[in-house]
Amino acid sequence: AKTPLRVAVTGAAGQIGYSLLFRIANGDMLGKDQPVILQLLEIADEKAQKALKGVMMEIDDCAFPLLAGMTAHADPMTAFKDADYALLVGARPRGPGMERKDLLEANAQIFTVQGKALDAVASRNVKVLVVGNPANTNAYIAMKSAPSLPAKNFTAMLRLDHNRALSQVAAKSGKPVASIEKMAVWGNHSPTMYADYRFATVDGQSVKDMINDDAWNRDTFLPTVGKRGAAIIEARGLSSAASAANAAIDHMHDWHVGTNGKWTTMGIPSDGSYGIPKDTMFGFPVTVENGEYTIVQGLPIDEFSQERINLTLKELTEEREGVAHLLKA
Ligand code: NAI
Repeated sequence: AKTPLRVAVTGAAGQIGYSLLFRIANGDMLGKDQPVILQLLEIADEKAQKALKGVMMEIDDCAFPLLAGMTAHADPMTAFKDADYALLVGARPRGPGMERKDLLEANAQIFTVQGKALDAVASRNVKVLVVGNPANTNAYIAMKSAPSLPAKNFTAMLRLDHNRALSQVAAKSGKPVASIEKMAVWGNHSPTMYADYRFATVDGQSVKDMINDDAWNRDTFLPTVGKRGAAIIEARGLSSAASAANAAIDHMHDWHVGTNGKWTTMGIPSDGSYGIPKDTMFGFPVTVENGEYTIVQGLPIDEFSQERINLTLKELTEEREGVAHLLKA
């Protein structure tokens, strides 16, 4: 039997946690033959810790064959100990009257602490996915706070945007979602991200030619994908949780298992590709093999796409500048 892998999850008693933990324990993330140990972090608050205990009782009651252990934590230094995978879901939500700047700063504090804890105690190969918003900038902060870990092991979740884009294009083209290849989402996980189906194919045929509707791209597709999170809050009265958890499973699954040559989207520290400044935590189309992602290279960027990429990059640069003073320790 395989040695269990340690999976740390923060914000474990939250909405996304409630959809996420059961699927990790069920083998959906790391494989149906891979035992896992869950190391669950919540804030020290008594209510949160009690809620976490409740979730753990339910996980126990599933009697998951692959679950080799489970612990509750209020301190990242114990939660991240020897972690092979870390899903950083917990974040400070925007409260009433809270400015964007306050939100960035509150989260910068959390992700500085958690980055340092990963640096100190996690496996030297820990693979980190940041889900908590602002996800790209939080991931950037965690990465910068963990100088002894490989920067490439810090990623941000763009997969929900990727999956949303796939589903919209499938509906528009009338093709099954599983048949669509070569989708890309560029930039920040925010309404500025640029979902790009110019390269997408079904059975080798261009989806763009199939749809053949530039106005749909600009006026329907991009706004629908970009504002999907808000549309779900409006409809459900709560933010996307099961779909976000599903995207986190997909992201980690593909990172662990590989994509078999197929493209997916990950928020990763830029290596300078496509003119994105090095280390910017940016959504790129990637393929994954042997646990390592590679940016899909050589894609032509037309004028419209360049404008969209510049816009999302500008937002990320501003976020990064907004927290720069907190990183100089
Ligand atoms: P939630 O509010 O239901 O749960 C968050 C949990 O995190 C709470 O239980 C809270 O106590 C905990 N938490 C807060 N700070 C923490 C810390 N420092 N350490 C450990 N735990 C902490 O929120 P939900 O719906 O589960 O969403 C979580 C985050 O994911 C939010 O920031 C949300 O904006 C983000 N999100 C990101 C998406 C993406 O595509 N990247 C998609 C959907 C949500």
